[in-house]
Parts: sequence; structure tokens; C-alpha cells
Amino acid sequence: NAIGVQTASDASINGDREEHDLCNWDELKFSLIPTDYMYVMKCSSGEGAFSQGHLTRYGNVELSPSSGVLNYGQGLLEGLKAYRGDDNRIRLFRPEQNALRMQMGAERMCMPSPTAEQFVGSIKQTALANKRWVPPPGKGSLYIRPLLLGTGAILGVAPSPEYTFLAYASPVGNYFTGSMHFSVEDKVYRAIPGGTGGIKSITNYSPIYKAVTQAKAKGFTDVIFLDAATGKYIEEATACNIFVAKGNVISTPPIAGTILPGITRKTIIEVASWLGYQIEERAIPLEELMNADEAFCTGTAIAIKPVGSVTYQGQRVEYKTGDGYLV
Ligand code: COI
Repeated sequence: NAIGVQTASDASINGDREEHDLCNWDELKFSLIPTDYMYVMKCSSGEGAFSQGHLTRYGNVELSPSSGVLNYGQGLLEGLKAYRGDDNRIRLFRPEQNALRMQMGAERMCMPSPTAEQFVGSIKQTALANKRWVPPPGKGSLYIRPLLLGTGAILGVAPSPEYTFLAYASPVGNYFTGSMHFSVEDKVYRAIPGGTGGIKSITNYSPIYKAVTQAKAKGFTDVIFLDAATGKYIEEATACNIFVAKGNVISTPPIAGTILPGITRKTIIEVASWLGYQIEERAIPLEELMNADEAFCTGTAIAIKPVGSVTYQGQRVEYKTGDGYLV
């Protein structure tokens, strides 16, 4: 249920094509290329609901030094993509799912959130306003990054008195190229039971930079985190969910508060069951990953990537990928 935001009969489409010299579409990576517009919407103290938002030129944001987001990390992020099809239409991938996930996160972080209609409307406007930056078919996508931030000034430890919803965009290519080569992290935990691992809090990411940076320095692509309660079960990687395949069974850790409910994850579960695979959402011991036939990762930024190897305490397991395999 991708949502079309532009029809092929739109008179501006030829102009779009000429502007495709904007950047080298063949060299796109997952890195920021600033685009023209961002969308901003505010919710002030006492209002409880976001008022009418608007598009504005992409640029820096002015913040109080005592804003809730700067001092106490009261913020959420989202990520979704707009693709240009061969028919030149631009389609968003399941934006209503991001709206719901932001609402769930906002509830956990004591923030008001945009309605699903406001959220999806803002994303459509952001995609359309930046349509010249949506790569040609097959060359990548326009990554849209919605943020929900506590922007009101607050000194004591408490929810911010004002909130800003903001969405900006950047054309992107692959987050990773090739297969993923993981090390398993057994000292740093990404999430704890009762914590914020199950929502897209901005605070979930920088605490794992050290573990990921150290793994990358050893030549790994990324890190797989284990559950903090027992250290026995796999949870997820830095920016993606993980799936394990054995025979006709595809398993993935359950959504139980410490795993991000990925939208690509949900889609793969739906599509794989339509295709006749047995899907299991359950706790997966690390040994099961090490003994799997195949493994793969899903996420908005990374899309779907095969796992090439997993290394744990010096033991490296390799998986077959490519033709004849799932991914
Ligand atoms: C995404 O896949 O959209 C993410 O948010 C992951 C990461 C880039 C933070």
C-alpha cells in the first residue's frame, strides 16, 4: 500500500528529468545531501495538539539552550523512503506505519504526537516539495527523516513545554554494499526491559557508537546486540532487525519492548508468510543464529541485506548468499 504522491500526467515531470543532473545518481550513498524544503509543525504548551504545519526552506533550526531535547534527549526520529517508479510516479512506502510508530514512541516519551493524517500529509508535502531530488528509478530513493523534538525550555527534569515536528529529506543510495559481516557484542547492551529499545528514541543510538566503532575498526560491518536480561538471545543490530532461516522456517526476535518494530521487518513477515514460509517471532538463542542456513537483516535505511558472517568470541560462521538463497 505505497501512496502515490505525483501522477505521471503532472506537467512538471519533464522539468524533473532535466534536473536529474543535480547530483551523480550512480554514486549515491547513505549520506546527507541537503534538499530544498523541510516541513515544520509546532505544539505549544497546553494545546496538546499540533497546529497547521508548513514547508520552509531547508536550514538550521533555532533552539533554546535549555530545550528538552538538548538537555534531556526528549526526542524521536523516524525514517521512510519515497521511490520514483518507471512510470515516473513517486511512491511512499507505508508512511501510515511510521505515523503509528511515532505515536507509540511519543506516548512512551511523554510527548504529544501529530495525528496519522498530519504525519502522512507532512511527508507527502515534503516529498513533493523535494521531488527533483527523488532519484531516477532504480538509482536509490529519497529518504525522509521525521523528527519529534521537545523544543520548549525546561530546566528541571520534566517533559518539555513545547514540541516541534520536523521532516527533512535527502536522496540516498545503499546504507551498506554487499553482505553484512557481524561481530556479536557481549558487553554493551542496546536496550533493557522496560527501557526505550522498542521505540525510535533519539537516545537509542549514540550509546552504541563505541561498540560499533570498535567492531568497524576490526573490519566488521556492524554489531549484533544480545538481550540485556540473559545475554543469550539475539536482539538486533545498530539500525536493522535480524532474521534467521533454517529450512522452510524464518524466525526473528519478537517485539517485546527491546526490539524496534521495523516496518520492513513487518513487511517481510507478511510477504514471507504469503509465500508459504513458516514465520516464527520468538526469542532466538545466539547458537541458533550460528547454526542457521541463512540470515538476513531488514530496515528502512538498509532495506534487505544478507548476512555473510557472524563472529562471536573468535568463532566465525559464514552463510551462503546470492542465487538460490533467500537474499
Ligand atoms: C532507518 O532505517 O530508517 C533508521 O532509522 C535506521 C538508522 C539510519 C537510524
